Amino acid sequence: MIKKAVLPVAGLGTRFLPATKASPKEMLPILDKPIIQYAVEEAQRVGIEDFLFITGKHKRAIEDHFDKAYELEERLKSAGKLQLLEKINCFENLNFAYIRQKQPKGLGDAILYAKPFVNNEPFVVILSDDVIDPEYSVLSDMIEIYNRTHSTVIALEEVPWSDVSRYGIVAGKKVEDYYLIEDLIEKPEQSQSPSNLAIIGRYILTPQIFKYLGKLEPGKGGEIQLTDALKMLLNETQIYGYIIKGKRYDAGEKLGYLKTIFEFALKDSEIASDFKAFLKERITNL
Ligand code: UTP
Repeated sequence: MIKKAVLPVAGLGTRFLPATKASPKEMLPILDKPIIQYAVEEAQRVGIEDFLFITGKHKRAIEDHFDKAYELEERLKSAGKLQLLEKINCFENLNFAYIRQKQPKGLGDAILYAKPFVNNEPFVVILSDDVIDPEYSVLSDMIEIYNRTHSTVIALEEVPWSDVSRYGIVAGKKVEDYYLIEDLIEKPEQSQSPSNLAIIGRYILTPQIFKYLGKLEPGKGGEIQLTDALKMLLNETQIYGYIIKGKRYDAGEKLGYLKTIFEFALKDSEIASDFKAFLKERITNL
């Protein structure tokens, strides 16, 4: 059973400046929920109850969001607004812990802070920028592969070749429903890339990774890269890649964020039909 999830949220979010100057990009809303809540709910759906956020400067709003809000709850109760109460009360059974990454030195460095929390157990890592259609659970597919293999599993997606330099890229051999990873490279030039199979922000890691994260020198972009630690791990064990089946949105940059909101609005029972009517009218006037 995998019971723990690690959510690194200490990045600077520079692609969203100035919005992220003093508040976290993870709190930007997709309709009425912040991005980070979709990540927590995704993990909750596969039975995860213990969450560690690796936080940084200006990230206090995330802690407040998952905290109990007694005063607000009392007000909603006495006003009879029970549906709203339910909406803010849905994390009662979950445990949240927070640790500050001292400096944003990179994703690999952030994950290293999770070592005491995971306590020798496998764990899920979710990068909340990658929002995955909630109707599909990539985590349950990945956990199923983990249960068969007891090894690291990473989520993959085929991306356009012109985008490979934005991702960690893998080379691998397809076996049944997964890939056996043979190599990993962080943000390669298109001409140097071994494939267009990109690493997406869902991982099942084992505590073996900490040994390598602790040894890493800064890699691509001067940051300590998780991809580099995974490459070192390959000398010791198999790593499995799994192509996600659902739709993934990159909410970590402006256009991707906008597309995410559109897709969610088109599926929202409250606003979908009005939103469609608005879009149709707007498009004819483009
Ligand atoms: P990104 O590459 O998206 O970087 O990080 P970023 O800082 O969040 O955003 P930009 O590129 O400046 O706009 C991938 C994930 O790794 C976390 C981020 O919070 C995000 O979830 N991260 C990154 C850390 O926790 N610490 C770091 O030092 C770097």
